[in-house]
Amino acid sequence: MQINSIEAYELAYQKSVEKPEQFWGEIAQSFHWRKPWFKVLSWNFRDPEIKWFEGAKLNITENCLDRHLAAHADKAAIIWEPNDPEQDSITLTYKMLHERVCRFANVLKRNGAKKGDRICIYMPMVPELAIAVLACARIGAVHSVVFGGFSAKSIADRINDAACKLVVTADGAYRGNKKIELKEVIDDALIGCPTVEKVIVLTHTRTPVSMLKGRDVWWEDEVKHVNDVCEAEEMDAEDLLFILYTSGSTGKPKGVVHTCGGYMVYAGYTFSNVFNYQPGEVYFCTADIGWITGHSYIIYGPLSQGATSVIFEGIPTYPDASRFWQVVDKHQVNILYTAPTAIRSLMSYGDEPLKNAGLESLRVLGSVGEPINEEAWHWFDEKIGKGNCPIVDTWWQTETGGIMISPIANVTKTKPSYATLPLPGIQPCLVDENGQEIIGNGVSGNLCIKFPWPGMLRTTYGDHERCRQTYFSAYPDMYFTGDGCLRDEDGYYRITGRVDDVINVSGHRIGTAEVENAINMHAGVVESAVVGFPHEVKGQGIFAFVIYPEHHADEELTRKDILQTVTRMIGAIAKPDKILFVSGLPKTRSGKIMRRILRKIAEGDMTNLGDTSTLLDPAVVTEIIDRAQKK
Ligand code: WT7
Repeated sequence: MQINSIEAYELAYQKSVEKPEQFWGEIAQSFHWRKPWFKVLSWNFRDPEIKWFEGAKLNITENCLDRHLAAHADKAAIIWEPNDPEQDSITLTYKMLHERVCRFANVLKRNGAKKGDRICIYMPMVPELAIAVLACARIGAVHSVVFGGFSAKSIADRINDAACKLVVTADGAYRGNKKIELKEVIDDALIGCPTVEKVIVLTHTRTPVSMLKGRDVWWEDEVKHVNDVCEAEEMDAEDLLFILYTSGSTGKPKGVVHTCGGYMVYAGYTFSNVFNYQPGEVYFCTADIGWITGHSYIIYGPLSQGATSVIFEGIPTYPDASRFWQVVDKHQVNILYTAPTAIRSLMSYGDEPLKNAGLESLRVLGSVGEPINEEAWHWFDEKIGKGNCPIVDTWWQTETGGIMISPIANVTKTKPSYATLPLPGIQPCLVDENGQEIIGNGVSGNLCIKFPWPGMLRTTYGDHERCRQTYFSAYPDMYFTGDGCLRDEDGYYRITGRVDDVINVSGHRIGTAEVENAINMHAGVVESAVVGFPHEVKGQGIFAFVIYPEHHADEELTRKDILQTVTRMIGAIAKPDKILFVSGLPKTRSGKIMRRILRKIAEGDMTNLGDTSTLLDPAVVTEIIDRAQKK
């Protein structure tokens, strides 16, 4: 099923458009199903209702584990590289991983989990995180992984939204030279989570933690009480596999829902093709499993293809900025998949950290999460790939489940900062403000997708109307991505960034409304407006304009207090980079904040503010500019 030439790509693409059911049906044959489907696809984008592989039965863990045992039991499934380079790395073969997943699946059952129950996972990047995820899938429980950087309040919101019954966590996490007390955060979260019955706690940092009788149990004790035989639960192709929360332009984060059959096929197919994975190769994705990239391209995609996937606990700059390259050399990594923000950060250290780096094992490089600027692209190409490794700039989203627009390694001719061409099965289109499709090349518009693909979201948990409203209502019969995009003369796609009120900070999606709500919680704040601005390393930074009338207060201290409030409400990842105190915000007569103007000011471009005549009070703009320039 691997595409090995541009002609093969064109043929596959054409077939996927003309005979989508046949195309995906054939790809799905390469997976293990307990029972086949009676219909490959039924869909409408109005409700929306999307079903792939209807009637089919499977368990994704049989595809990720059991089916590799006959021929590859002793092949490495996971190589774990700890935060501390002095500590030994750990290799889990497919056989070992299978045993541990089955054993932990039995622990989940022993603690009351059943098919359909939601389980929140809040863990460091250790092998047990992958084990917990797969153990949920084994018994048909729905996992909801929450990234380790979110606050107690954010976790509580997510747990309550999905009514989770269990939480799996660890005492603490290491991140560079920092220790993060995960269990303590969970304890704070659970004060407001009545649905949680049990908390399973892994020992990792051995930080002292409180263990509540009747609720909290140790991972290490629990595994002693069960054996490692666990028959996989038979799942319907459209049963829920997981929920993953992501930010949008309004309100609280949404629980994006992915289902078993389609997601598995899409994650596996795209992994194998985009990276051109070859048997025996070592693949290293530097993302955190708390994000969709980790779900699809550390766990499910690679394991479904029998690949060796590296899980790295640490950060690119600890103990120093050569760490990634050391990991690549140590484990002889062939495929490296990382983010532009990491590349830009490492670039800033110059050539010194590359002095002892061999990097000869590398064959394919990948980028994901945000637009990659040309400078970073060339540095990655020349310094890391030595001009010899194709770079796959992969565009996709939490909602798409897998890579959508991307070069195929060694097949598609790459072009810096372009995600290039849609993968087979993906029908992108650009639309103008009036919802008209823009035909032809050398054009730009809002990026939509016209036809379903197996990995797409099915709903947003507990609120189907919100799913319809957010993704399927802007343009009839199309999925709207929220991204702006251009298509050049060659038909190549270049993603230009979000066109909604979502900021992409270091590849993490943050809703401006969420940050504003958090800032507004701070005593004394009257109102705030948050916009993104170009940031050298992070891609975008967060700029907050805050109305705070207490002029006698110490500004610097107030600024820190506000950051503290945001950290409490959302997590440190949402802290504004800049806060400007103002006495008013530019609003239209109907009371809408004109973010366009604020974005310009945040960028430092005061000359080009556009039409300000519709403003209720144009004088506020002068005042804001004045204050911005004094800073
Ligand atoms: C948003 C999705 C799924 C990957 C991790 C982020 C931006 C993602 C690219 C790329 C330009 C990109 C888009 C998208 N984005 N990849 N290669 N080039 N922009 O997932 O948190 O759901 O964010 O990230 O704006 O909409 P996410």
